Amino acid sequence: SNAQPMNVAVIGTGYVGLGTAALLAHIGHTVTGIDISEEKIAMLQRAEVPIHEPGLDDLLASVQSRLTWTTRYDAVASADVVFICVGTPPGPDGTPDLQYVVSAAASIAPHLNGHTQVIVNKSTVPIGTGDYVTRLLEEHSVTFSAERHAVVSNPEFLREGTALHDSLYPDRIVLGGTPEAVAHMTRLYAPLIEQTFVAPASAPRPEAYTRPAVVKTTLQSAEMIKYAANAFLALKISFANEIAGLSERVGADIEEVMTGIGMDTRIGSRFLNAGLGWGGSCFGKDTQGLISAGREHNYDMPILQAAVTVNYRQRQDVLQKLIRQLRTLKGKRIGMLGMAFKPDTDDLRDAPAHDLIERLHALGATVVAHDPVAMPRASREWAHLTYQEAGSIEEAFDRADAVIVATEWTDYRTLDWNALTPRMRRPLIIDARNIIRDPIDAQVEQIGRDAPTADPIT
Ligand code: UGA
Repeated sequence: SNAQPMNVAVIGTGYVGLGTAALLAHIGHTVTGIDISEEKIAMLQRAEVPIHEPGLDDLLASVQSRLTWTTRYDAVASADVVFICVGTPPGPDGTPDLQYVVSAAASIAPHLNGHTQVIVNKSTVPIGTGDYVTRLLEEHSVTFSAERHAVVSNPEFLREGTALHDSLYPDRIVLGGTPEAVAHMTRLYAPLIEQTFVAPASAPRPEAYTRPAVVKTTLQSAEMIKYAANAFLALKISFANEIAGLSERVGADIEEVMTGIGMDTRIGSRFLNAGLGWGGSCFGKDTQGLISAGREHNYDMPILQAAVTVNYRQRQDVLQKLIRQLRTLKGKRIGMLGMAFKPDTDDLRDAPAHDLIERLHALGATVVAHDPVAMPRASREWAHLTYQEAGSIEEAFDRADAVIVATEWTDYRTLDWNALTPRMRRPLIIDARNIIRDPIDAQVEQIGRDAPTADPIT
């Protein structure tokens, strides 16, 4: 096979950049990770990982000899492939802010030289950005040549919390660009495509897994695939939530309904969990990104609009359930289990718990919030919110008029509920992630179904 080690530069050391650097070093390449943040680079040089991602620290440590961290762009000169993995945060109007992509391209350009170099967009960028980056490189480089330098779109599909597994054993690798540039990328990814690397201890190869499909497309199609994939997943979640709302009203059970439809292989059983809806840095931004792209071209995207509306309505509906039970929230003490937007991450971006805490406080409640991992981050990033930190899970229950499950952490799935509910002033659990499977000594409200309560408390 073509498993020649290459030199790679990875610009940006966020989730995508760190994952990409770890993956490429693990499959045998020499990687230089570049970031403008002196602080992040200093941490990485001390072998500290700035984000919480299971197994990532071990993987990075095991490939240390092939990894260099720096704030300088010089390594671009000897790189065969340069990955742009910088952030594209939503701007004020919801469209991605490209300033970091632009400055990365401008910083890369002066270091391009005589040998073939592919510049890869791995950040999620609006459709058309690949061509835009090509123009930026041309503008800022005297050595840029269309024969030797090409931009490829290689979108990332990893999930936070399972990033290692997702990048080592992907369903597909999407490569958009000219045939030559795409061929260069298949050489880089050969050990991944052929699965010839040794699986790391922290992410064993799943038994059923063989190898990823390689999808070769135009630049624009690859850029669109990234958005369309996230938008479709967002759509599935909102669909499940909409059906859950009606199930509740007609006496159907959303879990049974989704199991029943998911067994149709055309539909698929995953991403149909009703609950508090999606959060995180991707689904909100990418659905909005597509809607904005539509607007730019005078083209309505009513399906996506509706998916967004349903998602944020879900957060209000959960509060309505609470208000229906407590009548008023004034002076009430509410325990919140979970702050991160999903389990196994400390990421708080667009987390449903944020909106719940904000609304509960506005309505006069005292919120006592707990998270197994995200509390320190919340005390920094959610300083604008008023809530108390629960020093332990027990504290979230102490004298509470209700406890809301906002994130389905394993710690909460395995709680001994009956040992905790006696601490409450009123044993009411709003289980907004449907994690309670057996009857407990409390009134339980779930999403889209009657909770498994044997003895409803009246
Ligand atoms: C998502 C995609 O799953 C990745 O494929 C993609 O690469 C990534 O965005 C990205 O664009 O960077 P991520 O945001 O890490 O990954 O999180 P997911 O695990 O997909 O969960 C997204 C949200 O959907 C979470 O808030 C989760 O609670 C919610 N969700 C998920 C549901 O409410 N129901 C479900 O059935 C599944």
